[in-house]
Amino acid sequence: MFKVVLIKGDGIGPEIADAVVKIFDAAKVPITWIEKQAGLNVIEKHPTGIPEDTLEAVQQYKVALKGPTTTPVGTGHKSVNVTLRKSLELYANVRPAKSLPGVRTRFDNVDLIIVRENIEDTYGGIEHNQTADVAQALKLITRPGSIRIAKYAFEMAKLYGRKKVMAVHKANIHKLTDGLFLKCFYEVAKDYPEIQSSDLIVDNTCMQLVTNPERFDVLVLPNLYGDIVSDLSAGLVGGLGVAPGGNIGDDVAIFESVHGSAPDIAGQGIANPTALLLSSFQMLQHIGLHQTKARIEKALIETLKDGIKTRDLGGKAFTNEFTQAIIDRLENP
Ligand code: NAI
Ligand code: MG
Repeated sequence: MFKVVLIKGDGIGPEIADAVVKIFDAAKVPITWIEKQAGLNVIEKHPTGIPEDTLEAVQQYKVALKGPTTTPVGTGHKSVNVTLRKSLELYANVRPAKSLPGVRTRFDNVDLIIVRENIEDTYGGIEHNQTADVAQALKLITRPGSIRIAKYAFEMAKLYGRKKVMAVHKANIHKLTDGLFLKCFYEVAKDYPEIQSSDLIVDNTCMQLVTNPERFDVLVLPNLYGDIVSDLSAGLVGGLGVAPGGNIGDDVAIFESVHGSAPDIAGQGIANPTALLLSSFQMLQHIGLHQTKARIEKALIETLKDGIKTRDLGGKAFTNEFTQAIIDRLENP
């Protein structure tokens, strides 16, 4: 039995987390959930939104599945996710964008993975006013940070049999910072001769992603470009309801959907659990349960092919109907 920390979060979090738990139960996945709190429901007592024991459990068990958590605006509360990322050194944000049958988009065969550096770049919060009218932010890129994200991308590519890894950057303008990122990328690439390595400037990448996304495989990017390009890529395959992600460090990994707590639809039983389920597939691969992942994935694809979809994807199914449809399509191991 594997032990995995489950943080249901708030808003639609508990609804979609319960759906995943039900599907895992039905599929007899050998995981024991260690349930912990984070988000709005604990924010009165814990201004960070994360109680100590939640953080400790994630450190102890190393793997977590997390539902979305609300960040109150204008109250000085930090984002739970930023806190987790920084305190646990989750330096790789991995977001696959893969076309799903039955989910109508402009492209049929997108299958790419965004590997975003999750700590450096302009996200260190090093920002100040020089005068009332001049503000400045620092873009921080380091050799160790760039080497480890490039290594992560190539190792991941190797593990999943991917053929190409591309660095995305703006080294023509940011010659020193993005230049260092790119230099490190090619240094690491030398150790992976079986994988094709290349690079592309970020604006050109965006243009090609919206015209010809099927040519892309694994992309590795500094934080800011990664943030933007990963949302763009999610849009290529159906948007937030189907966009999964993982925040991964050397020691700990937290898997969660890209979308937030969707307060506008919380409690109505209509949330799409697919993004969290796809995140749980990343988690199953991470812990080595590849066959279990394939079995549940097949049931999800059959469900979508049969036209059973939640409203965000143009269907009529409620969360529990969609969940049951997946369970009904699970084959025996
Ligand atoms: P959101 O992603 O929660 O919602 C945007 C729109 O997409 C809404 O109309 C929502 O109903 C819809 N939507 C999102 N997920 C859906 C799903 N699974 N099924 C069906 N429809 C779905 O973004 P928003 O409204 O900007 O943020 C709400 C809260 O979530 C904020 O407090 C924000 O800080 C937080 N947030 C948390 C994240 C996390 O915990 N990882 C990530 C992003 C936002
Ligand atoms: Mg973002």
